[in-house]
This record gives sequence, C-alpha cells and structure tokens, in this order.
Amino acid sequence: MKMLMLINCLVIAGFYAGFGTGQPLVPALIIMGDSVVDTGNNNRRTTLVKANFPPYGRDFFAHNATGRFSNGKLAIDFTAEYLGFTSYPVPYLSQQANGTHLLTGANFASAASGFDDATALLYNAITLNQQLKNYKEYQSKVTNMVGRDRANEIFAGAIHLLSTGSSDFLQSYYINPILNRIVTPDRYSDRLMNIYSKFIQNLYGLGARKIGVTTLPPLGCLPAAITMFTEAGNNTCVERLNRDAVSFNTKLNNTSIYLTNKLPGLKLVVFDIYTPLLNMVMNPVENGFFEARRACCGTGTMETSFLCNARSVGTCSNATNYVFWDGFHPSEAANRVLARNLLVQGIPLIS
Ligand SMILES: *[C@@H]1O[C@H](CO)[C@@H](O)[C@H](O)[C@H]1NC(C)=O
Ligand SMILES: *[C@@H]1O[C@H](CO)[C@@H](O)[C@H](O)[C@H]1NC(C)=O
Ligand SMILES: *[C@@H]1O[C@H](CO)[C@@H](O)[C@H](O)[C@H]1NC(C)=O
Ligand SMILES: *[C@@H]1O[C@H](CO)[C@@H](O)[C@H](O)[C@H]1NC(C)=O
Ligand SMILES: *[C@@H]1O[C@H](CO)[C@@H](O)[C@H](O)[C@H]1NC(C)=O
Ligand SMILES: *[C@@H]1O[C@H](CO)[C@@H](O)[C@H](O)[C@H]1NC(C)=O
Repeated sequence: MKMLMLINCLVIAGFYAGFGTGQPLVPALIIMGDSVVDTGNNNRRTTLVKANFPPYGRDFFAHNATGRFSNGKLAIDFTAEYLGFTSYPVPYLSQQANGTHLLTGANFASAASGFDDATALLYNAITLNQQLKNYKEYQSKVTNMVGRDRANEIFAGAIHLLSTGSSDFLQSYYINPILNRIVTPDRYSDRLMNIYSKFIQNLYGLGARKIGVTTLPPLGCLPAAITMFTEAGNNTCVERLNRDAVSFNTKLNNTSIYLTNKLPGLKLVVFDIYTPLLNMVMNPVENGFFEARRACCGTGTMETSFLCNARSVGTCSNATNYVFWDGFHPSEAANRVLARNLLVQGIPLIS
C-alpha cells in the first residue's frame, strides 16, 4: 500500500514536472539495446527488421508508425513521461538528432541487436559496440555545445538504460543448429555476461554513473516462441525457454552486484521485467487483459516486423486487452504496466 502511494506520488510529480514549468528528474535519458526500446534507428538501414509501416504505431500520436515495435508507446516512452521529459529521446540516426534536441538524451537502440555483436550482424542491425561508439560521438557533440564541465554533469546525471538479450536467444542461439548443440544455454549465458560486464565498464569509463539494465522477459511465453518451439496445438509457455531466461537473469543480477562493488559511485539497477510480464500472461484478467496468448497482429502466432503489415489477415481491431501486439512484442497496454514496474524499481536511479 505504501509502495502504491509512493508510485502515485512519483507519477504525479512526474506529470507536474512534465506539464508544468519543472525540470525533469534527471538531465537526460540514454537508451541502448534492441527492438524493445528502438524508436526508429532501423528505419533507414538495409535490414528486414523494421516497424515503420502500419499497423505498427496505429495507436501512437497521429497514428504514426515511427519504427517502434508496438501499436503505441513503448515502456521507455512512458518512463520518459514519468521522469518529466516533454519529448522522447531522439533516435540517434534520425534527422531530429541534432542541435539542442540532443541535450536531453538520445536513443541508440536497434531492433535485432543483442549483447553479442554476432546476433546483430545476422540481421544487419546496429551492434552493441557500434551503439557505444555512436554514444561516444554523441558525447563529443554535447561537449562541443555546452562545454566539458556541464557535459560531464549531464553524462553523470543521465539515466542510461540497456535493454537487450532476447534476440541473442530467440533469433540466434536457439535457431542455430551448431551453436545450440555445442554450447549449453548456461555457457551461452556466461558468454553474454562477459560482454555485459565489459560493456558496463566501458559505459562507466565514459562517465555514466546511473545505469539500468532489464532482465530477459519470459522468453517461452512470447507468442512466436510458443509457435516455434512447441508441438502444434500446445498453447502453453515453453518451460525450457523460461528456465533459461531465469538462469540468465540470476547471472545478470550477480554480475551487476559484482560491478556495483567494483566501480565506485556507480548506481546499477537490474530491472525485472520477467516477473511482471509473466504475471500478465498467467493472470490476464486481474491485469485488465483478456488475451495473453495470441498477439493482436495477423494470426497472432508469429508475425513480427515485415510479416506484420497492413495486409496481415486477422489483425485485431483493438489491442487494449491484448498483452502482445505482435509475435515478440508487448502491446502499449502491457508496456504501460511494465513502465509502472520500471518506475518503482528505478527509484535508486532518481534519488
Ligand atoms: C511521423 O514520424 C516521423 C518520424 O518519427 C516524423 O518525421 C513525422 O513528422 C511524423 N508524422 C506525423 C504525422 O506526426
Ligand atoms: C536539425 O536538422 C534539420 C534538418 O535536418 C533542421 O531543419 C533543424 O533546424 C535542425 N535543428 C537544430 C536544432 O539544429
Ligand atoms: C504442453 O506442454 C507442457 C509443457 O511445456 C506439457 O506439460 C503439456 O503436457 C503439453 N500439453 C499437451 C496437450 O501436449
Ligand atoms: C536479484 O537479487 C536481489 C537481491 O539479491 C533480489 O531481491 C532480486 O529478486 C533478484 N532479481 C532477479 C531478477 O533475480
Ligand atoms: C549468484 O551469487 C550467489 C551468491 O553470491 C551464488 O550462491 C550463486 O551461485 C550465484 N549464481 C550464479 C548463477 O552465478
Ligand atoms: C479499445 O477498447 C477500449 C476499452 O476496452 C476503449 O477504451 C478504447 O476506446 C478502444 N479503442 C479503440 C481505438 O476503439
């Protein structure tokens, strides 16, 4: 109950900060990762993994398909609003990413990228290492605009959010007949942990002091995973995939504790999106949903990216009560629930 009141206060504070004259709670928001947070960086790339056409974005402002993999807002869009920002961090590869727009942050994420650069390369997405390079370039632009001291304050005060890993498993590891025969999920997770650990240390080296990282979702409950990995007709979450996700998340937690102890002044929060998403899938009605298995787009079994398009047959007319918008991605309604969870868990990053 107390927690609920605290959230309400924060949400209200956020709204006042946003719509009044107040300042956002942090100077900037820096986003890196995959399609869960990509707001349009893949649009002008030669890749099949895009979402800048209808029905994507049909519930977004002006029904605009911006490249977000949802019918409306992503969880980080709500997060930006709650923190009091009046605009979303610009996609770094878009035309708006110039001048003073950059001062409140930027989004470097790219759908189909992973911790492992090899995952991104399979789909010609922007690798995590390249995202980091782009962030460095971003930093020098900001430094040129406001001077080194102010720039360093912005980088140290900004929330840096990393959300990736699902593509490493679903779009690389599980479907690679060689990799998943010679490397166990446990070993593969360890490999990703090494990358994660180096990435956080690099980000810290660039002056980041507030970092959030999301866990893997319940991979086995994503409609496309159910379609790909269970026998026809079995409509339950794939236990094996969920176990792998839980085991990965435990390692992520452990590695993050290690990094927090090692890097002075670093606030590093692991955002658990596994539990709230699983909760929506298992108890849809209590959470305001009636459809938690089938996605809204197309047949709801598999379609994502170019397969989810204006001619997909069967797309639902109203995604409000669907947990999933497409085969891999939550609806705006589910994203709103996730964002509330992020807000509660993220308090250490704004205090
Ligand atoms: C749709 O989004 C694109 C890119 O984000 C933007 O350039 C365009 O102005 C938007 N259109 C409308 C109608 O809002
Ligand atoms: C950003 O670039 C666009 C053209 O690409 C230009 O119209 C706009 O004025 C620029 N904005 C700033 C703040 O420099
Ligand atoms: C569906 O899969 C679950 C575990 O993944 C298993 O327990 C259950 O027996 C299966 N049901 C059918 C009808 O095959
Ligand atoms: C991470 O560890 C903390 C405490 O050690 C625990 O409260 C939390 O539930 C763990 N989160 C995950 C995702 O395992
Ligand atoms: C996580 O850390 C705890 C305590 O330090 C340890 O017991 C556990 O084995 C670790 N788990 C993994 C998966 O590394
Ligand atoms: C979708 O349904 C919700 C209630 O279930 C309603 O509030 C909303 O207006 C509907 N949206 C559209 C676009 O019809």
